[in-house]
Amino acid sequence: MNTIWAVLIACITACLLAVTSAVGAGGPKPEPRPKAKTIAELAERYDSSRCLECHEDAHDQWSESLHAMSILGTPRTAPTIITAIEKGLKLFPYSGVKKDEDITVESLMMCMKCHLPQLDEATDDVAREIVATIRAWQKAYKVGNYDRAEELEETIASLNIGCMVCHNKLALIHKYADGYPQPDTVYGATEGDHEDEEYPKMAVAPALGEAIFCGQCHGQGPNFELDHPSQCATAYGSYLFAYIAHGGSKTCQECHMDESGLGHDMQAYRDEDMIAMAVDVNVDGQSLFWRKNKQEGVLPIGIINVEIYNKTGHGIPDG
Ligand code: HEC
Ligand code: HEC
Ligand code: HEC
Ligand code: HEC
Ligand code: HEC
Repeated sequence: MNTIWAVLIACITACLLAVTSAVGAGGPKPEPRPKAKTIAELAERYDSSRCLECHEDAHDQWSESLHAMSILGTPRTAPTIITAIEKGLKLFPYSGVKKDEDITVESLMMCMKCHLPQLDEATDDVAREIVATIRAWQKAYKVGNYDRAEELEETIASLNIGCMVCHNKLALIHKYADGYPQPDTVYGATEGDHEDEEYPKMAVAPALGEAIFCGQCHGQGPNFELDHPSQCATAYGSYLFAYIAHGGSKTCQECHMDESGLGHDMQAYRDEDMIAMAVDVNVDGQSLFWRKNKQEGVLPIGIINVEIYNKTGHGIPDG
């Protein structure tokens, strides 16, 4: 009997230890880095090209994704940010923004919370530089100066959701338990030394492979923590409350990174394979003659039954 208890207790202890050691190697909250003062400085801090050398596949895939151009978009996002300023910020009586010079990091966070979360590491000058750059890009297009437009487009795209946004800044979600991301560490599925000079350590991010990781930006509804809640993406809310609640069990990563075969090139309806994975459509048709009434007599009619079944993990389209 005693041996059974001893074995049981040993097992329980081992389980507890396993749980503890699976906790990511975050640490105490680091001192905030000095604020980036220009777009160039912020882009340099989150530059993904330095990872290309050793992670060519991840880099090539990522560079095709919208994450690699997250404030330019398709390029629909940059102009919409301007619309949000003109039709929103500047018209709201208490936003403190009457002209471009009044724009701050805080006022842009209603978009940048998800489109460029690292903007919180920059000065208000950078927020204004972003707006000025988007305006100059739009103007260059308008007057047909395409070389200049392309150059400015590159500047806009240099700010993006790069490797270190996911593998460092947003990698650890439950910071009281797992700690805060450390400035010398890349977070993934393994721990140990990392060959990169600037990030010589590698540690585990427990939720990187879970839907909640993507949920940080893919939205549940209004962003209530902001003074003026905005709403854009809601796929994560739909995932939790419609897909998971109805028995769905896959993660975002399983569908978008693994089954799609796309890895870091996370795509949706712009990709043929994703379109094929999206819906089952069944169409049934039958024709018959129908005796309507005395006046109109017998009429030929067709009945078409269309069934569309959404196989994704959320409502489509989103946003
Ligand atoms: C909660 C996070 C979040 C916030 C806040 C947010 N967005 Fe988005 N936005 C996304 C995500 C994620 C997508 C892409 C996926 C989708 O459409 O579901 C997206 C898509 C878009 C698109 C379409 C993208 C394209 O390339 O065509 C535009 C335009 C856009 N957002 C503009 C804005 C603007 C402007 C703001 C601020 C007023 C804003 N968003 C605020 C997360 C957000
Ligand atoms: C939008 C978030 C996001 C961005 C941006 C991102 N990654 Fe990842 N990465 C992930 C996730 C999530 C996983 C884990 C996938 C899983 O568990 O299924 C991952 C896995 C990895 C892995 C482990 C092996 C593998 O390929 O699965 C490496 C290495 C990696 N990423 C490198 C990079 C590099 C280099 C970049 C920049 C070029 C990058 N990642 C950009 C989210 C991201
Ligand atoms: C000099 C080569 C080199 C450079 C540069 C480099 N890495 Fe790595 N990285 C490695 C090697 C080698 C591994 C371990 C092999 C593995 O497990 O995939 C690794 C592992 C990782 C992992 C963990 C993968 C896992 O399976 O958990 C992530 C995440 C990662 N690197 C991200 C990055 C990012 C982001 C950059 C750019 C800031 C970068 N690496 C730059 C060589 C490099
Ligand atoms: C830092 C915030 C952030 C994180 C984390 C993030 N995304 Fe995104 N994602 C975005 C934004 C913003 C866009 C849209 C960019 C644009 O076009 O303006 C986007 C675009 C996408 C798209 C393309 C949508 C389209 O309309 O084509 C897919 C698919 C996607 N993300 C899936 C994922 C998955 C899966 C994860 C988790 C592994 C993830 N994202 C993590 C912010 C994020
Ligand atoms: C069961 C598989 C599956 C799961 C789970 C899943 N997706 Fe998707 N998702 C898809 C497919 C397939 C599409 C392409 C839909 C289309 O062609 O319109 C898609 C489309 C999208 C889009 C584009 C939406 C739009 O505007 O049309 C975004 C963004 C996205 N997914 C993000 C996510 C995120 C974030 C998660 C996790 C919270 C997730 N997906 C979970 C399969 C999945």
